[in-house]
Amino acid sequence: MWAHLKVNLTDILFSVSETMDLPDPSLVDHQVRTAYIASELARAANLDHELSERLFMAAMLHDIGALSPEEKIGVHVAEDLFPGAHCLRGGKLFREAFWLAPAGEIVDWHHTPISQHQKEGRSFADDNVLAAQFLLLADHLERWIDRRQFILHQSDRLRTQVSQLSGDILHPDVIQLLRQVSTCEDFWLELVSKDLALRLQQRCPLRSIDLDFEAARAIAVVLKDITDFRSRFTASHSSGVAACARSLAQRLAFSGKDLQQIEIAGFLHDVGKLVVPNAILCKPERLTAEEYAIIRQHPFYTYRVLSRVRGFEQIAEWASYHHERLNGSGYPGRLERNALDVGAKIVAVADVASAIAESRPYRDQGNKETVISALRNMSAQKLLEPVIVEALTDDYDEIVGASLEAQAEDERRYQERYMTIT
Ligand SMILES: [Fe+2]
Ligand SMILES: [Fe+2]
Ligand SMILES: [Fe+2]
Repeated sequence: MWAHLKVNLTDILFSVSETMDLPDPSLVDHQVRTAYIASELARAANLDHELSERLFMAAMLHDIGALSPEEKIGVHVAEDLFPGAHCLRGGKLFREAFWLAPAGEIVDWHHTPISQHQKEGRSFADDNVLAAQFLLLADHLERWIDRRQFILHQSDRLRTQVSQLSGDILHPDVIQLLRQVSTCEDFWLELVSKDLALRLQQRCPLRSIDLDFEAARAIAVVLKDITDFRSRFTASHSSGVAACARSLAQRLAFSGKDLQQIEIAGFLHDVGKLVVPNAILCKPERLTAEEYAIIRQHPFYTYRVLSRVRGFEQIAEWASYHHERLNGSGYPGRLERNALDVGAKIVAVADVASAIAESRPYRDQGNKETVISALRNMSAQKLLEPVIVEALTDDYDEIVGASLEAQAEDERRYQERYMTIT
């Protein structure tokens, strides 16, 4: 029954990786470039296909555990070689999705020096230690690139700087591999080329992997986590939206693939918030007009991330139109009723209902009366679709009860697995 939704894993990796690196000019393409360097080292070392694949997945999302743009920038400029929290959180996030799980250890260790591995009894010849060393080198090299300077004017400096990590931090053999792959100008010019992602996607080791629904759902949950776990106020928001949207869709006669897709759309509707800094996303006071404009970009980026993923076309639309309103007053497309699919209208209602039912830094959680009266108001003002609002109010206790349950479960995961890592 679940087999018919197929999604391309490579598309997801590239799309998410690039979006994670958008919030600051110093980060643009950081993970893609890191993956390129790591894969060149893997090629020179003749790593087998399976290990190259694992390394590539790890490299593309290696900073996934740095949950906010601020933390990503912090990790990026850190002189400190061992900012551990984002490694552990990243490894845990990888283990949540079984396609990414085999690469979890490489993410755990992407700042771990070789001396530490040896101290803990691991050998350089262990597959994941070797791959983590490639990633450590690639990550440092990329971060040391001066983006204002022509790459061939700094390649010698970069090589020297990496050589200084030999011994304690990096095994000398890894440095030797870099010397080997970086003698040609090609390596450097390709590394900073504007179409690196495109070219890498054409020849990356994951080219042909299609995921079925269950695997796609597991990855969607990881993406939801990195969106929502940035603040305790939103930690379970998208789970609530997903559960509510799914229940509503069931009552409106969705079935099979459409039900799978609406759930994933709920998980991913706010994934575009990856580009919004925590200072704005978690601000306890009222937002200024300028800050609100920054928040309002997020559904645009949700569309940008999802629409590039083969198999997610429908999900992209349903997820990213959740702030559009029937009378054309919504954002970012000012779409009107006829341009909105019923799936998008369902996610919009589920989003409003969940948001009001949750607490926020500036207000307490809404009770049944508050939620219902807000939804009915919005339906009367031609903001939300009346039939969907009625479907929710008719069966309020059951629908909202189920989504609160899903949220409580996520709240527990958040507390147990991520809050404890600082
Ligand atoms: Fe890192
Ligand atoms: Fe990094
Ligand atoms: Fe949103």
